[in-house]
Amino acid sequence: MDTPVDISAIRLETARLVLRPWKETDLADFYEYASVEGVGEMAGWRHHTSLDESRRILNSFIAEKNVFAVTDRKTGKVIGSLGLHPSWANREAAYAPLKIKELGYVLSRDYWGQGLMPEAVREVLRFCFEDLGLDGVSISHFRENRQSRRVIEKCGFRFIQNGEYYAGPLNKTFEDCRYLLLREEFRG
Ligand SMILES: CC(C)(COP(=O)(O)OP(=O)(O)OC[C@H]1O[C@@H](n2cnc3c(N)ncnc32)[C@H](O)[C@@H]1OP(=O)(O)O)[C@@H](O)C(=O)NCCC(=O)NCCS
Repeated sequence: MDTPVDISAIRLETARLVLRPWKETDLADFYEYASVEGVGEMAGWRHHTSLDESRRILNSFIAEKNVFAVTDRKTGKVIGSLGLHPSWANREAAYAPLKIKELGYVLSRDYWGQGLMPEAVREVLRFCFEDLGLDGVSISHFRENRQSRRVIEKCGFRFIQNGEYYAGPLNKTFEDCRYLLLREEFRG
C-alpha cells in the first residue's frame, strides 16, 4: 500500500550534507542544476528552460512534502533533490500489503563522483526504516544509467525485476531495473 509521508518538518544531516524541505528561496540553485542538459534526462525529465518552469516544480515539491532539498553542509547551497514516491512494488502481489516508498534523486553535475548521493541515500534509508517505520524502500534506474546503478549497488539494494517506465516529459519508454531493500535487510 502507498504510505503518505510528510517531510516538511524533517532535517537530516550527514558528514557533508543537510537534507531539508524545499524553500521558495531555493529557486536560483534549483534552476542552476536543473537547467543543465543531460542531467534530468537520466531520470526521465527534460532539463528546465526557464525560471518559471523551475518555480512551478519547486512549488510542487513544497506542496507535496515528499522531496528533500539536498544541500552542501558547508555552503548551504542546494545541489540536488531526493524524493519519496509511490512504489512499483505496491503493484506486485508479493509486496502490495507492505509500506514501501520509491526513492528518486538527482545531483548537480558539478558534484558527481564524490559519493554524495550514496551518503544521502544511506541516511534517508535510516530515516525511512527507523523514523517512518517503512517495511521497504524501492529504487529503479534506466538500464543504461550506470551511475545510478552504482549508487543503488553501493547502498545494498537487491535486484528484483526488469520493467518498463514511460517518461511522459520525454515521450519515451525506458527499460528500467527495479530494486528493493526490506527493513530486515537494512544494515544501518
Ligand atoms: C546518479 C547520481 C545521483 C549519482 O550521484 P553521485 O553522488 O555522483 O554518486 P557516486 O559518487 O557514488 O558515483 C556513482 C558512479 O558514477 C560515476 N561517475 C561519477 N562522475 C561521473 C561522470 N562525470 N560521468 C560518468 N560517470 C561518473 C562514478 O564512477 C561512480 O561509479 P563507481 O562507484 O563505480 O566509481 C548522479 O550521477 C546524477 O544525478 N545523475 C543524473 C540523474 C540521475 O541519473 N538520477 C537517477 C535516476 S534513477
